[in-house]
Amino acid sequence: MELLRIEGGMPISGETRVYGAKNAALPILAATVMVAGTSVIEDVPDLEDVRVMLQILEQLGARVRWQGVTSVEVDASSIHSTNVPADLMQRMRSSIFLMGPLLARFGDVTLSKPGGCVIGQRPIDFHLRGMRQLGAKIDEQHGYIRCSARRLIGSSITLDFPSVGATENLMMAASLADGVTVIENAAREPEVEDLAQFLQATGASIEGAGTDTVIVHGCSHLHGTEYRIIPDRIVTGTLMLAAAATRGELTVHGARVDHLGAVLQKLRDTGVRVQVDRDIITVKCDETPSAVDFRTAPFPGFPTDLQAPFMALLTTAKGTSVIHESVFEARFKHVDELQRMGADVNVDLRTAVVRGVPMLSGARVTASDLRGGAALLVAGLMADGTTEVDGVKHIDRGYQAIEAHLSRLGARIERVTV
Ligand code: UD1
Repeated sequence: MELLRIEGGMPISGETRVYGAKNAALPILAATVMVAGTSVIEDVPDLEDVRVMLQILEQLGARVRWQGVTSVEVDASSIHSTNVPADLMQRMRSSIFLMGPLLARFGDVTLSKPGGCVIGQRPIDFHLRGMRQLGAKIDEQHGYIRCSARRLIGSSITLDFPSVGATENLMMAASLADGVTVIENAAREPEVEDLAQFLQATGASIEGAGTDTVIVHGCSHLHGTEYRIIPDRIVTGTLMLAAAATRGELTVHGARVDHLGAVLQKLRDTGVRVQVDRDIITVKCDETPSAVDFRTAPFPGFPTDLQAPFMALLTTAKGTSVIHESVFEARFKHVDELQRMGADVNVDLRTAVVRGVPMLSGARVTASDLRGGAALLVAGLMADGTTEVDGVKHIDRGYQAIEAHLSRLGARIERVTV
């Protein structure tokens, strides 16, 4: 078993560059199956989830090749299967992104119910309802879902909640449908906009991505392209929080400030100094941050993916913070572990009350989901003594070589096998 062992108390300081966004890379890689040709995607993070997606593409018959360390070439002209392997489906929820693309290009897809982080029920009803509205026939049997349609037909779809994944899946499917699709109450996350830009680069016609109404004019085929994905706003946020929590001074290059508005605002509200210069963000913290309240919400609200790492910072803030999780119903799994480290947090359904304590103390803790794991890293970096985090595989799903990255910024962290 692997652990991340951290000696707390070292400031996270220096300069770093942020890599491409996992949550943009995954749908964009899935979208390459709609292209009867070659796509080159640049700034792809080397993460477990990305590797699983590439493995799925290969098993479907696509030719996949890394060019250097950050670009991936996908030639989807040789795809011969529309069956997404069940074992790979279980390893990553984002495999659901293959539903729209395979259905749209080949008229058929079979997949099993997806796995992924256990942070709530995470149903896929919006995806399925939307595909039905585009004319797909859906059979669900023995844990498998088969969607088929001779040709998808544009439609008007209103989502019950601005789901990121459903917006993306439907946008992809609609790109190769007959006629116009309007998606109302669409997610406005930057990753949705990035996927739309990739699709447009392949010849798709999409208006309004990044707003709550997305209009897709279906076309008959998409062509190969080269595309660079956006920087990872959640990794940027996690690094900034690690710096603030350890009273460091960190400069992050290559960030998208316009993707981080709510996070930068909340960080400033704690008293942490945040300076922005084009794509460079500098965070400096030399005194104890103050408590703040926040609620997670779809973009441009505070991202649910940074709720846990921000909570870690607030465990030693001056005063009491109230955090409301409005996106996922079970996203406080990190709280028990933070308590093990001396944090004073009470959870009532979707609300956590965090009373700042002077210091956390290192302990053996377990990550049970990706961003909860990031919170334990932040906590370990600021704690007194040694913290051992297990469940590292969850952290590896979203943070590239995290121990090397943090070591370069002054952390004492190592990966050990026990
Ligand atoms: C994506 C992100 C994830 C982020 C989340 C919210 C990727 C790969 N993952 O996940 O990191 O935390 O957005 O910003 O991009 N829902 C339904 N039915 C559905 C779909 C969703 O009820 O068919 C609910 C979910 O249970 C959840 C809410 O809608 O409560 C939001 O989920 P959604 O936006 O779809 O998240 P994901 O796309 O899974």
